[in-house]
Amino acid sequence: MLFNTLSLVAVLPLASAHFLLSWPDRRGFDDEKASGGPCGGFDSVSSNRTEFPLSGGPIQLDMHHTQARVAVYLALGNDPTADDFTITLVPTLSEEGPSNFCLGSVNIPSNLNISAGTNGTIQVVTNGDPSGGLYQCGDVTFVNTKLSESDYNNHCQNSTGVKVTQENMSGQPNGTTSGGDTPSQSSGGAAASATAAPGAAAHATSSWVLGAVGMAAFAFL
Ligand SMILES: *[C@@H]1O[C@H](CO)[C@@H](O)[C@H](O)[C@H]1NC(C)=O
Ligand SMILES: *[C@@H]1O[C@H](CO)[C@@H](O)[C@H](O)[C@H]1NC(C)=O
Ligand SMILES: *[C@@H]1O[C@H](CO)[C@@H](O)[C@H](O)[C@H]1NC(C)=O
Ligand SMILES: *[C@@H]1O[C@H](CO)[C@@H](O)[C@H](O)[C@H]1NC(C)=O
Ligand SMILES: *[C@@H]1O[C@H](CO)[C@@H](O)[C@H](O)[C@H]1NC(C)=O
Ligand SMILES: *[C@@H]1O[C@H](CO)[C@@H](O)[C@H](O)[C@H]1NC(C)=O
Repeated sequence: MLFNTLSLVAVLPLASAHFLLSWPDRRGFDDEKASGGPCGGFDSVSSNRTEFPLSGGPIQLDMHHTQARVAVYLALGNDPTADDFTITLVPTLSEEGPSNFCLGSVNIPSNLNISAGTNGTIQVVTNGDPSGGLYQCGDVTFVNTKLSESDYNNHCQNSTGVKVTQENMSGQPNGTTSGGDTPSQSSGGAAASATAAPGAAAHATSSWVLGAVGMAAFAFL
């Protein structure tokens, strides 16, 4: 067992350094461009939006690392730009284990005042290899319908051994403010409001300044 675990750790980061957004449907994935924000090189909105429940839904990822930091952001509108991903759906967390990783019930903040038919783009950011971020987006239309149990089960699976080791970490996975040792002066101690000022994507996490050891070493400021 120990031998197997060590083999995975040794091999996977070399073989493939990325992740896939499996649900909602991703705009696309290109290994060469995945490190470019906001959507890993896919700048055009998909013509095929996934219907995402306003009451919350799963985010299904396929992890190719054995360890990653992950955060999920949201931009409202039909064709958001990089600056529009100001709503934090899932603050930075640390995850272990390759393959299927589902964030079970990701809530859409109720104070956004959005209703069925509103469009948005969900952005998943993980830490890069070794620095910066990796980006993928899924374009959605919010709906009042919940996922059926079978749809939920199809879109939310965790592989054996996949687990969250830390939640609500300070900073974003791409390393700008990670580690908790660089106070986020620019976004200040923004209140825990889902509609905080633009640029405050890392809001609400500063009160959980946890020891983000490990990958934080790659932040160079
Ligand atoms: C559009 O989305 C549906 C449902 O997610 C999927 O089954 C289908 O393959 C997608 N079509 C295209 C052209 O991406
Ligand atoms: C998968 O794990 C995540 C994080 O621990 C959890 O939120 C989710 O509910 C799990 N999903 C299933 C289907 O077990
Ligand atoms: C949401 O609607 C309420 C009541 O109409 C309003 O007070 C509030 O400012 C709105 N919030 C946003 C983010 O638009
Ligand atoms: C949402 O996007 C679709 C195209 O994907 C478009 O037809 C529709 O009008 C948009 N909805 C709104 C409210 O703008
Ligand atoms: C990290 O992500 C944020 C939000 O997407 C972005 O503003 C910032 O430029 C990124 N930093 C790096 C180093 O890529
Ligand atoms: C992270 O924050 C959420 C939302 O405030 C909270 O429900 C959860 O308990 C927190 N998790 C930890 C480990 O503090």
